[in-house]
Amino acid sequence: MNRKDDHIRYALAQPQKESPFSAIRLSYEALPSFNVNDINTDVSIFGTTFPYPIFINAMTGGSKNAKKINERLAMLANAFNLPMALGSASTLFENPEMVETFSIVKTVNPEGFLIANLGAHHPIENVEKVIQILQPDAFEYHLNVAQELAMPEGDRHFASWSKNIQIAAKTLKIPFIVKEVGFGMNEHTMKRLHQWGVQYINVGGKGGTNFAWIENQRRTVPLQGLDDVGYSTPESLLRGKAITPLTLIASGGIQTPMEVVKSLVLGAKMVGMSRYFLRLVTENSHEDAVALLQTFIEEIKAIMVTLNVNTIDKLPEVDYHIEGGLWIR
Ligand code: FNR
Repeated sequence: MNRKDDHIRYALAQPQKESPFSAIRLSYEALPSFNVNDINTDVSIFGTTFPYPIFINAMTGGSKNAKKINERLAMLANAFNLPMALGSASTLFENPEMVETFSIVKTVNPEGFLIANLGAHHPIENVEKVIQILQPDAFEYHLNVAQELAMPEGDRHFASWSKNIQIAAKTLKIPFIVKEVGFGMNEHTMKRLHQWGVQYINVGGKGGTNFAWIENQRRTVPLQGLDDVGYSTPESLLRGKAITPLTLIASGGIQTPMEVVKSLVLGAKMVGMSRYFLRLVTENSHEDAVALLQTFIEEIKAIMVTLNVNTIDKLPEVDYHIEGGLWIR
């Protein structure tokens, strides 16, 4: 079976552990100053304003099934004006005929904000080629060391990644993001990225889809220690939030409106979800998915009322406390 299809299958099957966000408690206002209609969820990022602080995080492309999923994701992106990241375009270098499995997103949603994605081992020439083919509005390199190490056919060479990132940060004319795929980042990595000129970091923390676990399902002898490496999403945000003027994007294990709001309180400007959207489109008709996402957004607004906050940019001022100390599972 195609590796992309394996990833989709195992991502949906992965048992979910307790969310690291449950250790974060937000304040509660019994006497709010705002009505639900006063709540504005607009967010400005990548030089554009979007109506909601959520986006479809990188997933797929490169198989027939991936094309169908991308089509459904693009329909949702179109209905809500959500930015959408594509899965790694790496496959296009070996199978150029797979381009439609990605470009379907632009066919369905020509005005939508699109992010193209490649692993950081790809040199700038490959990045430029992908930008030329897919015409995205932003580009992101993904960092996935733990996944590569767990993957039998994975990469074992990581030393070139830093140089590729530095070159991309200097060269690219569109917004450039560096993202993890679910193992998080510490402040030293984020500071280095910032010094190299990277403005957008998607912390991609632990707590949701775990690609070491997924690759271990594909191995005869699993490397189970790798399932446990990394930083949770809240911990990554807390480690990175003092690095200004870096723009932090939250992702990894975010599946509820409360987890979206907690991510914004902890300093994220925008919140990406993969598994949530994958389930939404694979388990529901488009009409039902729209209704469920509408309710999800209504709940974000409801939570903002309980925090007495009427705009997204005021969320980082909300009081919170962390149960059980600073270091979160
Ligand atoms: C992913 N993810 C991913 N990330 C990336 O940068 N490039 C990719 O090609 C993929 N492929 C991919 C396939 C599938 C099926 C899933 C579910 C995820 C990782 C994704 O962007 C995200 O970092 C993790 O999934 C953690 O977020 P969630 O799933 O816990 O919201």
